[in-house]
Amino acid sequence: MSIIASNFKTNHTRKSTASFINEINSFLKSNEITSEVIVFPTATSLDSFSTLPNLTIGAQNAYPVEKGSFTGELGTVQLDEFSIKTILIGHSERRHVLGESQDEIAKKYDFYKSKGYKIVYCIGEPLEVKEAGLDKTLEYVYEQFDGIDVNYENLILAYEPVWAIGTGVTATNEDITSVHSAIKAKIPKPLLYGGSVKVGNVKEICALEGVDGALIGTASWDVEDFKQIIENTKDL
Ligand code: PGA
Repeated sequence: MSIIASNFKTNHTRKSTASFINEINSFLKSNEITSEVIVFPTATSLDSFSTLPNLTIGAQNAYPVEKGSFTGELGTVQLDEFSIKTILIGHSERRHVLGESQDEIAKKYDFYKSKGYKIVYCIGEPLEVKEAGLDKTLEYVYEQFDGIDVNYENLILAYEPVWAIGTGVTATNEDITSVHSAIKAKIPKPLLYGGSVKVGNVKEICALEGVDGALIGTASWDVEDFKQIIENTKDL
């Protein structure tokens, strides 16, 4: 069964998020779709949504702390208010745009692991590494597991090549399967693919050997498209 996750990034408001989640929930219900769906809204749009058990709301980011003096950050006290128990860690935008180091990411991972959160952990190589070949790509990706307990029971992985995120350039099926099969051989956890996944290619990608679902940004922000994405993958 596929896992379909939507990363809102810096999109949608509190109001539009609530209507998006309610609409997706009704869609899953009326079509009896049992895929696991996860939505990561902005921090300001987190709330206590009443959803089916297979629709989960997660945090895009939070600080590895319960509470304290960390201006601009969230801790578990704020997530607990809305019973949020799922978090995205290691996304390429946090690594490359916001400058999170592997060390900081590993600390965050350990903290949220100790709290029992479901962690969607992202890895992926930039273009120059991809161009250096598969061995270099895998070497780079494996380094993103430094300090990460890959045996954690509540772990979902997402392979997202940086050059494919938000660019409209999707990795080829061959790119995806070669990286996925190598990661899966080392780490037997659910492994999503992310990077320019859309309505038209989600089924083909999710049906590939070693792909357990998709983490989607841009193409998931329109609720009709996201419904179609869920529809296209419901039988996989
Ligand atoms: P994209 O983003 O679907 O817009 O490429 C994917 C992601 O960053 O999770």
